[in-house]
Amino acid sequence: MSAQAQLVKRRLFSLFSLVLFAFFLCNASAQTKTASHPWMNPSLSPDERASMVLKEMTIDEKISLLHGTGMEGLSPLSPLIVHSNGGAGYTVGIPRLEIPPIQMSDAAYGVRMSGDNGRYSTALPSCVAGAASWDLQGGYEYGALIGRELRAQGYNMGLGGGVNLTREPRNGRTFEYMGEDPLLAGTMVASVIKGIQAQHVIGDIKHYAFNDQESGRNSVNVTIDKRAARESDLLAFEIGVEQSEPGAVMCSYNRLGGDYACENKYLLTDVLKNDWKFKNFVITDWGAAHSTVKASAAGMDQEQPGWIFYGDALKKSVETGMVPKAELDDHVHRILRAMFATGVVDNPPARSVVDVLGGLKVARELEEQSIVLLKNENAQLPLDNSKVHSIAIIGPHADVGMISGGGSAQVDPPGGNAIMPPGKGQTRWLEPVWFPTSPLKSVRAKAAGATVEFNSGSDPAAAAALAKNADVAIVFAYQWESEDMDLPSLALPEHQDELISRVAEANPRTIVVLETGGPVTMPWVDKVSAIVEAWYAGSAGSDAVANVLFGDVNPSGKLPLTFPRSDADLPHPTIVKPPAASLVKPGPEPWKQIAAGLAPFQVTYDEGVKVGYKWYDAENKPVLFPFGHGLSYTTYSYSNLRVSPEKNPQVTFTVTNSGNRAGAEVAEVYAALPASANEPPKRLVGWSKVQLKPGESKEVTVDVNPKYLSIYSTEQHGWQLVPGEYNFMVGGSSQNLPLKQAVSLN
Ligand code: BGC
Repeated sequence: MSAQAQLVKRRLFSLFSLVLFAFFLCNASAQTKTASHPWMNPSLSPDERASMVLKEMTIDEKISLLHGTGMEGLSPLSPLIVHSNGGAGYTVGIPRLEIPPIQMSDAAYGVRMSGDNGRYSTALPSCVAGAASWDLQGGYEYGALIGRELRAQGYNMGLGGGVNLTREPRNGRTFEYMGEDPLLAGTMVASVIKGIQAQHVIGDIKHYAFNDQESGRNSVNVTIDKRAARESDLLAFEIGVEQSEPGAVMCSYNRLGGDYACENKYLLTDVLKNDWKFKNFVITDWGAAHSTVKASAAGMDQEQPGWIFYGDALKKSVETGMVPKAELDDHVHRILRAMFATGVVDNPPARSVVDVLGGLKVARELEEQSIVLLKNENAQLPLDNSKVHSIAIIGPHADVGMISGGGSAQVDPPGGNAIMPPGKGQTRWLEPVWFPTSPLKSVRAKAAGATVEFNSGSDPAAAAALAKNADVAIVFAYQWESEDMDLPSLALPEHQDELISRVAEANPRTIVVLETGGPVTMPWVDKVSAIVEAWYAGSAGSDAVANVLFGDVNPSGKLPLTFPRSDADLPHPTIVKPPAASLVKPGPEPWKQIAAGLAPFQVTYDEGVKVGYKWYDAENKPVLFPFGHGLSYTTYSYSNLRVSPEKNPQVTFTVTNSGNRAGAEVAEVYAALPASANEPPKRLVGWSKVQLKPGESKEVTVDVNPKYLSIYSTEQHGWQLVPGEYNFMVGGSSQNLPLKQAVSLN
């Protein structure tokens, strides 16, 4: 061996020894750390780990974990807020015990405030659109994308998971929720939370509970019968909590039965923590805390965004024995266990570049699964490129963008707000935001060779004139929704009803594409040939819509909520508004008035369990489009129903694609309970989304959980199957159920 080679060998050897030494050193230090911080051992259970940390904590450390660090306009601000990641909430960590801070961001259909922070997030279709896909894997992808983008931006907790039932469809947050059925909403929200938490991000389900209208949300007192409560709104939460074990549940602004939700023992302790065995923590909505001792005893674990009640006031209450030490420890334990269980301690956020192109693809694909074809007369859709030579695109801003949902769910529009004047910059509270996803451009890209012209519709006569000379007119109509407001009615705003009618009178081949957060009324329904519900379509919305219009995608979404014929048909023809005495008085620091408690006003949900289709069924009211409805470019037939007569019935049937295109059918299973149960005519008890090639048949089995066939007995304090005859019904919508079989269940 040459001297040179020997030198190289010696150097390599020393390098290797050095690496080995460093490895042993790190390992030894990790071992000492684990020895002194035994809770850092991931093989222990989250509860064991939380208990170990708790033992080491001082009272100040405990209190610091039970509140946020403030938010402009909602609470005082702590100097520690400089360490916030820029999201809605920040709770300090305990570095000496290796407990990281909780960095929270709103994340309903994407990560909020990314623009403010010089970051980027994908906007997915609105949550109600997610529910319209009835696709559990899609729900998981929805959550997984949000979780990935939260982590990439430095957050370890997402505030999303809205699952309040659409009891009041004019609620300005309908787009943020998952429709009117507890089984659909609860199961879909669970899929989303599972997707988020799989990314080591704490998920949250909100707003618990009965925050079903925005008008007077800080002062409204909701009254509802207990059995109806458990079988409706609470069932959606129950399913969500049971199936996904979210790290947090957010208590809402309103009162229920006299007590604020965030100090409501029935909601937080009796139902959530005892009956549903929820082990993680209750976080307040922002500014929804109203007391220290009462809230703590009721089960509120963490106050956000500040520390009006859970700072010094809580410490004093513990020191004076007003709040038992065990109660304080329970709040802390729950937060710690949620952090260990979701992996935010072992896998802290890893900042990285958001996968913009990957995100757009997911947003487009989810929207394609969610679009609902409401009407398609004479097979007007899909458009045939070889036959359509001229298209009129009509509607407000349809040349440049599509509308998005507002409030704390608002995602900053990637590429900038499509219609905000230059310089205006970011999104603003209670101002609509149009995403730069242009229906005109997407249709032009599909309709090669055709003339595609645009008219905003501000002058209906001019729009009708353009439509008259076109082969096809497509009107993009919208209805904007946001937190902090309710819709005045289900009618489209800005004279769009008149616009659609005039265009349809000028051209019988008129297609309406709806960009709405929920149902709208349609005085023009019989005049147009096709109606497509696109919801708030997200970052890649216009391409998804064009893919459906031109048949590259066969629509498969189904309505997660009923479209009624008029506001008068709703359980409450008008929303109860707060009287002046129940509103915040003008002046500085309005949050102080809210924290102190506003005078309550009453909303009584006397329709009880009859939410959505259950109401229209029970009242025999015809509707515009029923729950579960959605057409396809192919046709499906159903046959051969068998129901096994057991407590856990299996419902088996065959679905056939009887048309000539591949498609996916949401096969829905409903049940009518025995008359003695005294329930609405039917309820959804299961479904399956089935992919079928042309001519293909598949046998489908839906396992029905006995809870979904039961009633909630307030005497027995639990779910009970009422013995008797159950009628199972299967088909493609709540009002198209060709298969029926009765079985006796005991
Ligand atoms: C909303 C919550 C949101 C919170 C933080 C509140 O106004 O009701 O849904 O998570 O603000 O932004």
